[in-house]
Amino acid sequence: MPDGGPVIVGISRSTEKIREIVRKVADVDLNVLISGESGVGKELVARSLHYFSSRKKRPFIKVNCAALPGELIETELFGYEKGAFTGADKQKMGKFEAAADGSIFLDEIGEIPMSMQAKLLQVLQDQKFPRIGGHKEIDARARVIAATNRNLEAEILSGNFREDLYFRINTISIVVPPLRERPEDVEPLVYYFLDRLSKEHRLPKPDISPRLMKLLKGYHWPGNVRELENYLKRLLVLGESKELEAELEAAGDGWNSETDTASSQEAVIEEAAKEVLPNKNSREKQFPSLKEVRDKAVYRVERALIKQVLEETNWNRREAAKILKISYRALLYKLKDMNLTPH
Ligand SMILES: Nc1ncnc2c1ncn2[C@@H]1O[C@H](COP(=O)(O)OP(=O)(O)OP(=O)(O)O)[C@@H](O)[C@H]1O
Ligand SMILES: [Mg+2]
Repeated sequence: MPDGGPVIVGISRSTEKIREIVRKVADVDLNVLISGESGVGKELVARSLHYFSSRKKRPFIKVNCAALPGELIETELFGYEKGAFTGADKQKMGKFEAAADGSIFLDEIGEIPMSMQAKLLQVLQDQKFPRIGGHKEIDARARVIAATNRNLEAEILSGNFREDLYFRINTISIVVPPLRERPEDVEPLVYYFLDRLSKEHRLPKPDISPRLMKLLKGYHWPGNVRELENYLKRLLVLGESKELEAELEAAGDGWNSETDTASSQEAVIEEAAKEVLPNKNSREKQFPSLKEVRDKAVYRVERALIKQVLEETNWNRREAAKILKISYRALLYKLKDMNLTPH
């Protein structure tokens, strides 16, 4: 970490907003939940929150909840007394106690098993807990910062995450978007990493051609900032290399069309769903039966898909039937039934 503390590099609106929130909430003792895909910079945000708070000189303790099975998370977080269980031959301090007046970073909180979620909630509510096998209550004064790459709201719906715990940890929510949604950040990140890495490894900074920069900005970075950092490490070591460029180029061709199709198909389905479902805002809700909705939904989605395929094939019905994997006759029947014509 540089002397001035962690730096969140980037010029995109969303990164500016994150820097602003970090500044605002760093010194407020509210729990923060940071969410985002792998490698977007969640830990960096957590460390910044700690660094820019008055807890800066106190410990920052990270607990990787994904790396520990249920029972071990408990001893890891809360510690135990000598003799608490077989093998507990001396007292051990847990991470909450170690974090004291600092911050505790619960990474991958979505991985905590349900049974432990209840216990964690209890501790967050009471702000104290005994070590396992002990009676003395220990204060939990650490500021809690949690991170997840899961969609916790969806996990609540599917019964894997407690809603009450979610509300407790999510007082402030910071969402870090994937790098592909903020391509403006790529260029400043590239220069920042090359600068840092070249100093760290005592290697000269490679030149970045305008062509390579364009490829870097256009790539979809599934591993986000971490993947960009690793790419630049290789570039630094290998120097300008045709293979490295070719990698981005090859990947770049495929992904655009893939995601475009996926998102346009999702849009088609969403649009169709809107037409089928009762209007959320209308006062008199007349709910249709499930069968009615299903039939209507299938009809709408089928119609939208057939239309899309026909447009793509320039209304070549034989080709469209092949793509849709139905017979030519069945397609003609559907066109008539669905009142689909080229104009
Ligand atoms: N905006 C940024 N500015 C500077 N460095 C960044 C930025 N975002 C991420 N990084 C760097 O990228 C790497 C990955 O970030 P980090 O570990 O914080 O991601 P993460 O979201 O916690 O990932 P994971 O979910 O895989 O744990 C780190 O080296 C981090 O310092
Ligand atoms: Mg992380």
